Amino acid sequence: MTAPRSARIALLPGDGIGPEVVAAGRDTLEAVARAFGHEFTFVEAGIGGAAIDATGQPLPPDTLALCRSADAVLLGAVGGPRWTGAVRPEQGLLGLRRGLGVFANIRPVVVWPESSGSSPIKADRLAGVDLVVVRELTGGIYFGEKTLTGAAGAERATDLCVYTTDEIARVTRVAAAFAQARRGRLTSVDKANVLETSRLWRRVVTEVVRSEFPHVALDHLLVDTCAMDLVRWPAAFDVILTENMFGDILTDEAAMLAGSIGLLPSASLGEGAGIRPVRGLYEPIHGSAPDIAGKGVANPVGTILSAAMLLRYSLGLDEEAAVVERAARAAVAEGVVTPDLAANGAAARTGDVTRRIVASIVDRLTCPTPVSMLHP
Ligand code: IPM
Ligand code: MG
Repeated sequence: MTAPRSARIALLPGDGIGPEVVAAGRDTLEAVARAFGHEFTFVEAGIGGAAIDATGQPLPPDTLALCRSADAVLLGAVGGPRWTGAVRPEQGLLGLRRGLGVFANIRPVVVWPESSGSSPIKADRLAGVDLVVVRELTGGIYFGEKTLTGAAGAERATDLCVYTTDEIARVTRVAAAFAQARRGRLTSVDKANVLETSRLWRRVVTEVVRSEFPHVALDHLLVDTCAMDLVRWPAAFDVILTENMFGDILTDEAAMLAGSIGLLPSASLGEGAGIRPVRGLYEPIHGSAPDIAGKGVANPVGTILSAAMLLRYSLGLDEEAAVVERAARAAVAEGVVTPDLAANGAAARTGDVTRRIVASIVDRLTCPTPVSMLHP
């Protein structure tokens, strides 16, 4: 058992279902603190549309400062149909990722047999799926120069995609470290048959892996082929490394393997990730889901598993993270699930699922099958 420790955790609820799922994440972390004798303090701040309403800015400077001073950040979601102007909620999230320097976005996709029935993919393809997508998060087309010129009806818009050697090398090191600690396979995904940035990507990834990670088996896939193989042979993947926009798209696709996008967590990490605990930003990948906001039916599991990643990668609390993962899986196995996973209307509410998971953590109940979530 790890020594008691204290940590300061920033909570950014954001928009839509964000506040509901972040509350579930906080309950989970408080349960861990109680069960293991840690002392976690929470500080809350605004981001996204909620912050635009309150301050006119999607990332108020106080929010960024608070996150920089915290040990870790747990975020819900940003965005919604109410904010369509030039100042957008998503700018807050992109600014935060950049401002925290969290260039490596870790998105594990593990198929639990207990929830795989909800996947649109045939069961025989899902057995043994346990992959991690490492998505570059602070470069590429998301952050390149944007222009919109010309008169109405004859406009011209551009989004520049830029990558440097350093940006590619540092995220490759994180992905290769993950591969090394897992099954030793790394698949780098690009569009090198068309894009100059992808040709640089492929060259740098190859050099870094060859010189620094000689035991990692590297292969390259074009992004269109990868999209196909993710539904054709998903169990063949171990670690997928890719650039910002390809990673955004492929992880929504990969989420469908698990059964619901509401199950998937993420960690965004900076320098030192995979080697030692580092400050990180943790968020479910599902987005703000305005259609179900405030109804108490959002799936809290993606955020709760994000809290588990927070414990592991920012606080170095591996045992605690595993307890949270087992508790979440046990709730799903028992059928205590929100409507996105409930087969015939027997759905639980966000609060019911959270309470079930919290109770397991407090009791330190364990699920018989170990959850292979991810390492290192
Ligand atoms: C994600 C989201 C974000 C992204 C949006 C909300 C800006 O889709 O984290 O995958 O595109 O990165
Ligand atoms: Mg996305």
